[in-house]
Amino acid sequence: MRLDKFFTHTGTMSRKECAQAAKRGRISVGGKVVTDSAVHINENTDTVTLDGAVVTYMKYIYIMLNKPQGYVSSSDEPGEHTVLELLPENIVKCDVFPSGRLDKDTTGLMIITNDGPSSHRALAPKSHVCKKYRYECADALLPSDAEKMRAGITLADGYTTLPCELEMLGEKHGEIILHEGKYHQIKRMFGAVGNKITALKRLSFGDILLDEKLEEGAWRYLTDEEIKIFTGNK
Ligand code: URA
Repeated sequence: MRLDKFFTHTGTMSRKECAQAAKRGRISVGGKVVTDSAVHINENTDTVTLDGAVVTYMKYIYIMLNKPQGYVSSSDEPGEHTVLELLPENIVKCDVFPSGRLDKDTTGLMIITNDGPSSHRALAPKSHVCKKYRYECADALLPSDAEKMRAGITLADGYTTLPCELEMLGEKHGEIILHEGKYHQIKRMFGAVGNKITALKRLSFGDILLDEKLEEGAWRYLTDEEIKIFTGNK
């Protein structure tokens, strides 16, 4: 693999930045300074350093984004801002995509990766990865309606949802944990009891929790522990 590709793949810097860093003698491979960013290296066996710090090659990129409102979670939708616009270009170039969907007006935890097989596995119904959301609704939720949703409720299209956990933290807000992910599911569940969601934020994806330190629109790489959870290697 070319040295500059190695650096863009690890999300460390762009090709141009890599070329500049190499020229300035900031990069070494196997203990020797390398000034040409086009050289080929073995990403699995060579020790590569930038400013003396070892950079580890990762086949895939895993990102946690705190999605703000107003961004769609598909990779490309004409006329819309997509969540990928919130990431640096050198990461987007690595063919990353959002793992799963959140509505344009939903905020919170999104995982963005280029690991197709793991994303597919995590989203497959048989993986039973639960997702937790904080909701706000327009009208006071009746405890009897909350109970209907917990038990599984029939939506307008005839689909009956799986049982879920719903904790009312007030008349018009609370937390809900889904064990499936149908299109607009929470909005349609509240719609089925004559109520309306006014705000929705995803707090967790399985055991991966939204990092409270991430402002809306901010992102970070998943930790090794979170990657293990996401990829199922745990
Ligand atoms: N349910 C919804 O209705 N919207 C989301 O974005 C996620 C779950």
